[in-house]
Amino acid sequence: MQALISDIHGNRAALESVLRDIEARHADKIYCLGDIVGYGPDPEACIDLVMARAQWSLMGNHDYALLHGPKGFNPLAAEVIRLTADRMRGRTPANTETCPHAAQGNCAACLAIAQPPSARWQYIESLVASHREADVLYVHGSALDPTFEYVYPDRCGPVWSPPRICELLNAIPWLAFCGHTHIPCAIASDLSCHYPQDGANLIRLDPQRKYIVNLGSVGQPRDGDPRASYVLFDERERTIEWRRLPYDIAPVAARIEAMCGIGSWCAKRLWTGQ
Ligand SMILES: [Fe+2]
Repeated sequence: MQALISDIHGNRAALESVLRDIEARHADKIYCLGDIVGYGPDPEACIDLVMARAQWSLMGNHDYALLHGPKGFNPLAAEVIRLTADRMRGRTPANTETCPHAAQGNCAACLAIAQPPSARWQYIESLVASHREADVLYVHGSALDPTFEYVYPDRCGPVWSPPRICELLNAIPWLAFCGHTHIPCAIASDLSCHYPQDGANLIRLDPQRKYIVNLGSVGQPRDGDPRASYVLFDERERTIEWRRLPYDIAPVAARIEAMCGIGSWCAKRLWTGQ
């Protein structure tokens, strides 16, 4: 059984809650579909945990931005990427002098973590865009644009695109797992969308249909449920089970609030899962 995680976004508490559940469920493999960093206060610890526990990880758009700079990001997300890059390079964040928290010694982002060019950095550089095992494809975004394309389900109004979904379904072998939108769902080849919820969080896949399955997000869910999300995939039974795990949001939100230059938006959304 595979445990599939994605969009951790520097949220160590959420990731640890998920990893404990994975252990309890005896999954024998952990695959990560990217976005280890971004938004959250503990990107380094999350990289360490993924390196230690996952068989492999893909490169998400935030991981890519860490290497190549944030392009097309909203200003707050871009600022977190720059802070993370500075910390991982062992530099003092550029905005330390203007940070109101620095003098109090309690600003997480101002505490430059002096890392040499490290295994963490090399690990991010080594991430690949997609992975395939038999008739299953794993991407962060989509089959045709594996790092950057958002595949939205029908609940997401005007960005739901049946013609594009058909193109993507044609491009996958049988099953594709993805993240990126942070919205857990399964889109089947008849264009029906299944949204997991408590009591209906498991589906059995039909081998005659194709599916695009979104795992949801470990560290920043956006489906209105603030609990961390991940998927258990039983290859033999052909079942998908979405798991939701609570974690202590308050300290994570407080540390995001304390990060220099980062507004409270990234913290507030953790409480509402938006
Ligand atoms: Fe993400």
